[in-house]
Amino acid sequence: MARIVVTGTIPDEAAEALRAPGHEVVVGTGAAPGTDGHDDLLALVAGADAVLTMVADRVDQEFLDAAGEQLQVVANVAVGHNNIDVAACAQRGVVVTNTPDVLTDATADTAIALILDVTRRFGEGERLIRSGRPWAWGLFGMLGTGIAGATLGIIGPGAIGTATARRAKAFGMEIAYAGRSPMEPAAESELGARRLDQEDLLRVADVVSLHLPSSPQTRHLIGAAELASMKDTAFLINTARGPIVDEAALVQALIDGQIAGAGLDVFEREPTVHPGLLELDNVALYPHMGSATIQTRLAMVDLASRNALAVLAGEEPLTPVRASGA
Ligand code: GLV
Repeated sequence: MARIVVTGTIPDEAAEALRAPGHEVVVGTGAAPGTDGHDDLLALVAGADAVLTMVADRVDQEFLDAAGEQLQVVANVAVGHNNIDVAACAQRGVVVTNTPDVLTDATADTAIALILDVTRRFGEGERLIRSGRPWAWGLFGMLGTGIAGATLGIIGPGAIGTATARRAKAFGMEIAYAGRSPMEPAAESELGARRLDQEDLLRVADVVSLHLPSSPQTRHLIGAAELASMKDTAFLINTARGPIVDEAALVQALIDGQIAGAGLDVFEREPTVHPGLLELDNVALYPHMGSATIQTRLAMVDLASRNALAVLAGEEPLTPVRASGA
């Protein structure tokens, strides 16, 4: 019998599926609002053979020490794994897994929601109504920017980037992209997507949407210089990870009118949001809800559970994360 720790609340049926082979299952409550919950996490994982971790959990040397030598697998309930020191896990023989694909549609939907929200000022309109300030319909009131015919620049044309491009195409957008690898050829031709250097993409795109992993290489990929190179009518969308954007530089670019607005589902120092962003009406801010549909979250927990159970049974996990260079 193994001890499986799940760091955040999951439905009873999901806990039951983990328990079924005869394992002990301990379910935590996740980080309390406004905290990173690291100390509680260290206490929770002590003695675990498998841990299902959430995006906000930091899996570092301290975590691995706290868990103990019997730990076999860290199954992240997320596609991103920047919260995990994968190399340290590999050194200790701990398998790391993630949950790709099952969250592609929900996250792409969120990118589209942010694009529409910020270009059409829907959040701003909602705030106006809730403020109780008087308003009246006006022919030239609350005007936004139409996206049909505009160019969407995808940075990171993987599964989520491509799914976002596909949706945007249905809204009449032209698709361009930049990335280390080309878009999957069938999707590229179906979407008529143009591959550009990142520099050119930033110069021509009306909306730039980020879909790449967070790593030391992508930290502050979008900083002051990149923002300055964008059109002053363009919008930046981030549903990937906060550290990819230099948030202080973004606030300054928005204040200076270097770009027209931003839609963010992720933040550089989550759950802290740069106070400058809160002051601005031309930004849409969501609390990391990219994959937050009931269907998607159940599928993520199911995949993470199957990964953990496979490793505990001595089998290959379905979706392993390899240490870079491994
Ligand atoms: C969510 O942010 C994920 O990486 O799955």
